[in-house]
Amino acid sequence: MVADLVEGFINGRLRPSLGLATGKTMEPVFAELVRRGEQGLSFAGAHAYLLDEYLDLDRGDPCAYRNVVQRLLVGQIDLPPGALHGPNAQAVDVLAECARYEQQVRETSIGLQLLGIGSNGHIAFNEPGSPLDSTTRVVELSERTRADNARFFGDVRSVPTRAITQGVATIGAAAQLVLLACGVHKAEAVARAIEGPVTAAIPASALQLHPDATVVLDSAASSHLTLTAG
Ligand code: F6R
Repeated sequence: MVADLVEGFINGRLRPSLGLATGKTMEPVFAELVRRGEQGLSFAGAHAYLLDEYLDLDRGDPCAYRNVVQRLLVGQIDLPPGALHGPNAQAVDVLAECARYEQQVRETSIGLQLLGIGSNGHIAFNEPGSPLDSTTRVVELSERTRADNARFFGDVRSVPTRAITQGVATIGAAAQLVLLACGVHKAEAVARAIEGPVTAAIPASALQLHPDATVVLDSAASSHLTLTAG
Protein backbone atom coordinates (compact mmCIF):
# COMPACT_ATOMS: atom_id res chain seq x y z
CA MET A 1 0.00 0.00 0.00
CA VAL A 2 2.78 2.47 0.85
CA ALA A 3 4.57 1.49 -2.36
CA ASP A 4 1.31 2.13 -4.25
CA LEU A 5 1.19 5.67 -2.83
CA VAL A 6 4.82 6.27 -3.79
CA GLU A 7 4.28 4.86 -7.29
CA GLY A 8 1.22 7.06 -7.84
CA PHE A 9 3.16 10.07 -6.61
CA ILE A 10 6.24 9.37 -8.77
CA ASN A 11 4.17 8.72 -11.88
CA GLY A 12 1.95 11.76 -11.45
CA ARG A 13 4.63 14.46 -11.47
CA LEU A 14 7.39 15.81 -13.68
CA ARG A 15 9.92 16.42 -10.89
CA PRO A 16 8.65 14.66 -7.76
CA SER A 17 10.35 15.46 -4.44
CA LEU A 18 10.08 12.38 -2.26
CA GLY A 19 10.93 12.45 1.44
CA LEU A 20 12.48 9.22 2.73
CA ALA A 21 12.59 7.83 6.26
CA THR A 22 15.04 5.11 7.25
CA GLY A 23 14.84 2.23 9.73
CA LYS A 24 13.56 -1.34 9.75
CA THR A 25 10.01 -0.34 8.92
CA MET A 26 11.08 1.16 5.61
CA GLU A 27 13.08 -1.85 4.46
CA PRO A 28 10.14 -3.78 2.91
CA VAL A 29 8.92 -0.55 1.29
CA PHE A 30 12.33 0.02 -0.28
CA ALA A 31 12.47 -3.63 -1.41
CA GLU A 32 9.05 -3.29 -3.05
CA LEU A 33 10.08 -0.05 -4.79
CA VAL A 34 13.22 -1.78 -6.10
CA ARG A 35 11.03 -4.61 -7.40
CA ARG A 36 8.72 -2.13 -9.12
CA GLY A 37 11.76 -0.35 -10.55
CA GLU A 38 12.85 -3.62 -12.13
CA GLN A 39 9.38 -3.84 -13.65
CA GLY A 40 9.54 -0.35 -15.17
CA LEU A 41 8.74 2.21 -12.47
CA SER A 42 11.15 5.07 -13.20
CA PHE A 43 12.55 7.50 -10.65
CA ALA A 44 14.58 9.30 -13.35
CA GLY A 45 12.86 12.65 -12.81
CA ALA A 46 12.68 12.40 -9.02
CA HIS A 47 14.67 13.87 -6.16
CA ALA A 48 14.83 12.15 -2.77
CA TYR A 49 15.43 13.85 0.58
CA LEU A 50 16.55 12.23 3.84
CA LEU A 51 14.82 13.16 7.07
CA ASP A 52 17.87 12.88 9.26
CA GLU A 53 21.45 11.75 9.60
CA TYR A 54 23.64 10.59 12.48
CA LEU A 55 26.54 12.79 13.52
CA ASP A 56 29.99 11.49 14.51
CA LEU A 57 30.11 8.52 12.09
CA ASP A 58 32.71 8.14 9.36
CA ARG A 59 31.44 9.12 5.91
CA GLY A 60 31.58 5.50 4.74
CA ASP A 61 29.94 3.99 7.83
CA PRO A 62 27.33 1.46 6.63
CA CYS A 63 24.92 2.72 9.32
CA ALA A 64 24.97 6.33 8.07
CA TYR A 65 21.47 6.90 6.71
CA ARG A 66 22.73 8.15 3.35
CA ASN A 67 24.63 4.88 2.93
CA VAL A 68 21.65 2.79 4.08
CA VAL A 69 19.34 4.45 1.56
CA GLN A 70 21.98 4.21 -1.17
CA ARG A 71 22.41 0.47 -0.51
CA LEU A 72 18.76 -0.53 -0.07
CA LEU A 73 17.08 1.76 -2.58
CA VAL A 74 18.91 4.41 -4.57
CA GLY A 75 21.70 2.15 -5.83
CA GLN A 76 19.09 -0.25 -7.21
CA ILE A 77 16.74 2.17 -9.00
CA ASP A 78 17.26 4.74 -11.75
CA LEU A 79 17.30 7.81 -9.47
CA PRO A 80 20.02 9.99 -11.05
CA PRO A 81 23.37 10.45 -9.26
CA GLY A 82 23.12 13.60 -7.22
CA ALA A 83 19.36 13.32 -6.74
CA LEU A 84 19.66 11.93 -3.20
CA HIS A 85 19.87 14.82 -0.74
CA GLY A 86 20.44 14.88 2.98
CA PRO A 87 22.16 16.72 5.78
CA ASN A 88 25.95 16.61 5.42
CA ALA A 89 27.09 15.15 8.73
CA GLN A 90 30.74 15.82 7.81
CA ALA A 91 30.19 19.58 7.53
CA VAL A 92 32.70 21.64 9.52
CA ASP A 93 30.01 24.17 10.44
CA VAL A 94 27.12 21.92 11.48
CA LEU A 95 24.81 24.78 12.39
CA ALA A 96 25.26 26.33 8.94
CA GLU A 97 24.60 22.91 7.43
CA CYS A 98 21.31 22.64 9.34
CA ALA A 99 20.26 26.03 7.97
CA ARG A 100 21.32 25.04 4.44
CA TYR A 101 19.33 21.79 4.52
CA GLU A 102 16.26 23.44 6.03
CA GLN A 103 16.29 25.96 3.19
CA GLN A 104 16.81 23.27 0.56
CA VAL A 105 13.90 21.19 1.85
CA ARG A 106 11.60 24.21 2.09
CA GLU A 107 12.53 25.39 -1.40
CA THR A 108 11.93 22.03 -3.03
CA SER A 109 8.60 21.50 -1.27
CA ILE A 110 8.40 17.80 -0.46
CA GLY A 111 5.35 16.31 -2.18
CA LEU A 112 5.19 12.98 -0.33
CA GLN A 113 7.02 12.36 2.94
CA LEU A 114 7.42 8.81 4.28
CA LEU A 115 7.67 8.54 8.05
CA GLY A 116 8.33 5.90 10.67
CA ILE A 117 7.65 6.35 14.37
CA GLY A 118 9.95 5.63 17.28
CA SER A 119 8.71 3.56 20.22
CA ASN A 120 8.82 6.86 22.17
CA GLY A 121 6.70 8.71 19.59
CA HIS A 122 9.51 10.42 17.70
CA ILE A 123 9.35 11.24 13.99
CA ALA A 124 12.67 11.60 12.19
CA PHE A 125 14.91 12.27 15.22
CA ASN A 126 12.50 14.68 16.87
CA GLU A 127 12.56 13.16 20.32
CA PRO A 128 9.85 13.75 22.95
CA GLY A 129 9.97 17.41 23.93
CA SER A 130 10.78 18.62 20.41
CA PRO A 131 8.80 21.80 19.78
CA LEU A 132 6.07 21.48 17.19
CA ASP A 133 7.54 24.52 15.42
CA SER A 134 11.06 23.08 15.34
CA THR A 135 13.18 23.19 12.19
CA THR A 136 16.33 21.36 11.05
CA ARG A 137 18.82 21.22 13.89
CA VAL A 138 21.29 19.15 15.89
CA VAL A 139 19.63 16.91 18.48
CA GLU A 140 20.72 14.56 21.24
CA LEU A 141 19.28 11.08 20.81
CA SER A 142 17.33 9.70 23.74
CA GLU A 143 18.57 6.59 25.55
CA ARG A 144 15.46 4.78 24.33
CA THR A 145 16.17 5.59 20.69
CA ARG A 146 19.81 4.59 21.07
CA ALA A 147 18.74 1.31 22.66
CA ASP A 148 16.16 0.68 19.90
CA ASN A 149 18.77 1.39 17.20
CA ALA A 150 21.50 -0.73 18.80
CA ARG A 151 20.32 -3.57 16.56
CA PHE A 152 21.84 -1.78 13.56
CA PHE A 153 25.17 -1.11 15.26
CA GLY A 154 25.75 -4.32 17.21
CA ASP A 155 25.77 -2.66 20.62
CA VAL A 156 24.34 0.49 22.16
CA ARG A 157 27.73 2.10 22.86
CA SER A 158 28.34 2.30 19.10
CA VAL A 159 25.11 4.22 18.44
CA PRO A 160 25.87 7.93 17.98
CA THR A 161 24.53 10.28 20.61
CA ARG A 162 23.78 13.13 18.17
CA ALA A 163 22.08 13.63 14.82
CA ILE A 164 20.89 16.28 12.42
CA THR A 165 17.15 16.06 11.90
CA GLN A 166 14.46 17.91 10.02
CA GLY A 167 12.20 19.55 12.57
CA VAL A 168 8.54 18.82 13.25
CA ALA A 169 7.54 21.96 11.35
CA THR A 170 9.87 21.12 8.46
CA ILE A 171 8.17 17.73 8.13
CA GLY A 172 4.74 19.30 8.45
CA ALA A 173 5.43 21.52 5.44
CA ALA A 174 5.35 18.48 3.12
CA ALA A 175 2.18 18.26 1.04
CA GLN A 176 1.39 14.67 2.06
CA LEU A 177 2.60 12.60 5.02
CA VAL A 178 2.50 8.80 5.15
CA LEU A 179 3.48 7.21 8.45
CA LEU A 180 4.04 3.46 8.58
CA ALA A 181 4.29 1.45 11.81
CA CYS A 182 4.55 -2.28 12.42
CA GLY A 183 4.74 -4.34 15.60
CA VAL A 184 3.35 -4.23 19.11
CA HIS A 185 6.38 -2.27 20.35
CA LYS A 186 4.96 0.70 18.41
CA ALA A 187 1.36 0.29 19.65
CA GLU A 188 1.56 2.65 22.62
CA ALA A 189 3.28 5.43 20.66
CA VAL A 190 0.82 5.01 17.77
CA ALA A 191 -2.20 5.27 20.09
CA ARG A 192 -0.82 8.36 21.79
CA ALA A 193 0.04 9.95 18.42
CA ILE A 194 -3.37 9.31 16.88
CA GLU A 195 -5.79 9.44 19.80
CA GLY A 196 -3.96 11.53 22.37
CA PRO A 197 -3.55 15.29 22.54
CA VAL A 198 -1.27 17.08 20.11
CA THR A 199 1.82 17.57 22.24
CA ALA A 200 5.55 17.99 21.98
CA ALA A 201 5.78 14.99 24.32
CA ILE A 202 4.72 12.83 21.33
CA PRO A 203 6.11 14.55 18.24
CA ALA A 204 4.18 12.19 15.92
CA SER A 205 0.95 13.68 17.31
CA ALA A 206 1.69 16.68 15.05
CA LEU A 207 0.29 14.58 12.20
CA GLN A 208 -3.17 15.36 13.62
CA LEU A 209 -2.65 18.97 12.50
CA HIS A 210 -1.72 18.05 8.93
CA PRO A 211 -4.37 18.33 6.19
CA ASP A 212 -3.18 15.21 4.33
CA ALA A 213 -1.71 12.60 6.66
CA THR A 214 -2.14 8.85 6.22
CA VAL A 215 -1.17 6.28 8.87
CA VAL A 216 -0.61 2.70 7.74
CA LEU A 217 -0.50 0.11 10.55
CA ASP A 218 -0.33 -3.62 10.94
CA SER A 219 -2.74 -5.11 13.48
CA ALA A 220 -0.11 -5.27 16.23
CA ALA A 221 0.78 -1.59 15.89
CA SER A 222 -2.91 -0.66 15.95
CA SER A 223 -3.71 -2.85 18.97
CA HIS A 224 -3.82 0.00 21.53
CA LEU A 225 -6.22 2.17 19.53
CA THR A 226 -9.58 2.51 21.26
CA LEU A 227 -11.59 4.74 18.92
CA THR A 228 -11.83 2.26 16.03
CA ALA A 229 -15.31 1.55 14.69
CA GLY A 230 -16.79 -1.92 14.38
C1 F6R B 1 14.83 7.59 10.66
C2 F6R B 1 13.50 7.98 11.14
C3 F6R B 1 13.01 7.42 12.43
C4 F6R B 1 12.50 5.98 12.23
C5 F6R B 1 11.95 5.43 13.53
C6 F6R B 1 11.45 4.01 13.37
O1 F6R B 1 15.09 8.21 9.42
O2 F6R B 1 12.84 8.74 10.50
O3 F6R B 1 12.00 8.21 12.93
O4 F6R B 1 11.50 5.99 11.25
O5 F6R B 1 12.95 5.46 14.51
O6 F6R B 1 12.53 3.18 13.11
P1 F6R B 1 12.29 1.64 12.82
O7 F6R B 1 11.55 1.54 11.56
O8 F6R B 1 13.69 1.07 12.73
O9 F6R B 1 11.52 1.09 13.98
